[in-house]
Amino acid sequence: MNVLLIGSGGREHALAWKMAQSPLLSTLYIAPGNAGMHDCGTLVSLDVDNHDAVIAFCNEKAVTFVIVGPEAPLVAGIADDLRAAGIKVFGPSAAAAQLEGSKGFTKDLCAKYNIPTGAYQRFNNAPKAKAYVRQQGVPIVIKADGLAAGKGVTVAMTLDEALNAIDDCFEGAYGEAGAEVVVEAYLDGEEASFFCISDGKNLLALASAQDHKRVGDGDTGPNTGGMGAYSPAPVMTEAMVTRTMKEIIEPTVAGMAADGHPFSGVFFAGLMITEKGPELIEYNVRFGDPECQVLMMRLKSDLLEILLAAAEGRLNEVTAEWRDETALTVVMASKGYPGSYEKNTVIAALPESVDGTKIFHAGTALKDGQLVATGGRVLNVTATGASVMEAQTRAYAAVDAVQWENGFCRRDIGWRAIEREKA
Ligand code: AMP
Ligand code: GLY
Repeated sequence: MNVLLIGSGGREHALAWKMAQSPLLSTLYIAPGNAGMHDCGTLVSLDVDNHDAVIAFCNEKAVTFVIVGPEAPLVAGIADDLRAAGIKVFGPSAAAAQLEGSKGFTKDLCAKYNIPTGAYQRFNNAPKAKAYVRQQGVPIVIKADGLAAGKGVTVAMTLDEALNAIDDCFEGAYGEAGAEVVVEAYLDGEEASFFCISDGKNLLALASAQDHKRVGDGDTGPNTGGMGAYSPAPVMTEAMVTRTMKEIIEPTVAGMAADGHPFSGVFFAGLMITEKGPELIEYNVRFGDPECQVLMMRLKSDLLEILLAAAEGRLNEVTAEWRDETALTVVMASKGYPGSYEKNTVIAALPESVDGTKIFHAGTALKDGQLVATGGRVLNVTATGASVMEAQTRAYAAVDAVQWENGFCRRDIGWRAIEREKA
């Protein structure tokens, strides 16, 4: 079959790399893709905000299945429009994508269906939000309701921080996303991400991962889209996975279906493992980036077969097999990220790929025959190993063979799990 993959990040490179190995695939089109993806499929420049143009492209190229990588097109309803045109899609409807598009929507769903999460209130004006914060005390968490590119959350340790965060939201720091604010109880514990596919009624648990959001070693400095990740997350023991499925994911799927917007696609559950057990921090409705890269390194099964089964409502017919190894990825970013950075700097050399090591590209392009960095996050240097320590050692050996003067990375991806291994 001919398939179209939408997106251009490291996540999409990993998905494309994995799907290119499927016997079900004829041609993979990628819109827009990046310089690392040429050997996975055919790169096309399509305006994905123009749903009619995407549908016309699919009809012209006999594409029968579309996989949507990022959240923004899903929240904008691309899956609805493609399905209405008779094209199969991996990814939720706009109504179901509210699980990521509106934090208030998700919190209300949790309240209605008894899904464990921090106590909360929704506000549409600053004075009421501030009064609630004063009454609750700190630490407390202030969230812009809508999509804010990962920047709309403040974990406030002082009252001043909390009050300022409320002002920021209502004064437009996050645009429309901050017109409503969720104030949420602070959850104490260890974070983990858990991935699970749904076709609206059936569920297929995938795997866990842990990412590193802060830009600096030791988890310091500003938040980023993610500077590295590893899978599995040791804190997600079999018992914790079972509880997460039963207490969080299953009631979500049932609740979404009961409320008239069944969820078809991937749940990326951000969890806090507290003393009480798993609690939901947030849902994303797409694979994580860079979490997807480590998941794909571990997945033994045919990804395309799984995604297609989800799109066709027969997820009960497939299974997901995993390599019993750790995969770890180190993000190499342009110096200055997550602030401003120089564009089009030259990446002079990448190491030969060896078994169990893979470099996924994110913000790269070919210009005059040279590989250049075009984005903030640029390369995902990924390796597998029998332990987190071994995967980390192999990943950094590959990092050290990358010749890119304007690049930097964290040197401690996986540190928490490695400390556990040593203990
Ligand atoms: P989010 O964008 O919702 O993933 O939030 C970003 C980060 O803020 C999360 O990864 C957590 O580290 C932190 N966070 C969000 N909500 C809470 C909460 N209720 N308690 C503690 N930390 C939180
Ligand atoms: N790495 C976090 C995310 O994809 O949202």
